[in-house]
Amino acid sequence: MKAITYTEYGPPDVLKLTEVEKPTPKDHEVLIRVLAASVNPLDWRLLRGRPFFTRLLMGGLRRPKPTRPGVDVAGKVEAVDRSVTAFKPGDEVFGTCRGAFAEYACAVEEKLALKPANIPFEEAAALPVAAISALQALRDKGGVRPGQKVLIDGASGGVGTFAIQIAKQLGAEVTAVCSTGNVDRARSLGADHVIDYTREDFTKSGQRYDLIIAANSHRPIFDYRRALSRDGTYVMIGGGWSQIFQAVFLGPLLSWIGSRKMTFFVAKITRTDLAFLGDLLAAGKIVSVIERRYPLSDVAEAVRYLEDGHAKGKVVITVEHHDV
Ligand SMILES: NC(=O)c1ccc[n+]([C@@H]2O[C@H](COP(=O)([O-])OP(=O)(O)OC[C@H]3O[C@@H](n4cnc5c(N)ncnc54)[C@H](OP(=O)(O)O)[C@@H]3O)[C@@H](O)[C@H]2O)c1
Repeated sequence: MKAITYTEYGPPDVLKLTEVEKPTPKDHEVLIRVLAASVNPLDWRLLRGRPFFTRLLMGGLRRPKPTRPGVDVAGKVEAVDRSVTAFKPGDEVFGTCRGAFAEYACAVEEKLALKPANIPFEEAAALPVAAISALQALRDKGGVRPGQKVLIDGASGGVGTFAIQIAKQLGAEVTAVCSTGNVDRARSLGADHVIDYTREDFTKSGQRYDLIIAANSHRPIFDYRRALSRDGTYVMIGGGWSQIFQAVFLGPLLSWIGSRKMTFFVAKITRTDLAFLGDLLAAGKIVSVIERRYPLSDVAEAVRYLEDGHAKGKVVITVEHHDV
């Protein structure tokens, strides 16, 4: 089968379209005929192998060990291991897997859900990592309640576009922070207020928020703290490395010495949350915002575009099969 692989850390140019052996599902795994995948910052972070400690995640200090990128996937179940109980061949599924940028990929059954019939594969593939991150940051880590004032910084990327919509579904009053070209989209996704960060600094407006979700954080942690209400919560999903380090190491200390909670967060892909979000998508309560679509042969270009840092929503890979 065709798959994107890489054998060294580096820029997207190291990604190559190659012929590899079709994978075989192991314990509790299904084999998926991939029809769509989507790109996440995780893909370029692992590809770069920078900072150096990220190489520990890849299990290769000099060279990456798993050389098949791509996590978000949607497709048809081709085969299942005999231990699998939730799916059968022919089922249409979406979720996360290893090596989604390929014609076939294996996924653990717990990280998949049935795709709603009325949702195209591309829209389902856009959802898993970004929407689950938004949902769990708002609901589980942020404990959002109806009527609360929620600010989403970095509201126009993969996570941010889902965060606006999910926060509205959870009853929040939403303020989205993005650049000028994305203001209208943020509004159309349901944001009650939109702040153009090129013109206005939300940390200096005097407005305070019950919950701040940093989908893409580019400010010192103290700026966010200043914009929180007295018992407010800051949840850092992603952004620059210095912001991530501040949230991981300074966050617990700042939470301990004050009434505001400052936390970092790592998403956990579960079938329950995939199904919950799939239902919202099927009911038209949220939409997958897809800015660009690339064929499998152009994954390097897709990853390069996402790494530039200004994607408007999700970047999707469509996988064509020529064997039937
Ligand atoms: N912790 C976790 O479990 C977890 C899970 C998923 C993702 N993440 C992380 O979350 C982050 C966001 O992921 P993503 O998929 O949303 O990435 P993305 O799609 O690449 O985000 C791009 C968006 O970021 C916005 N942005 C860039 N600079 C900004 C700034 N200075 N202020 C406000 N917005 C800015 C851009 O909007 P403008 O063009 O308007 O600037 C663009 O639309 C990444 O760092 C990712 O690694 C973490």
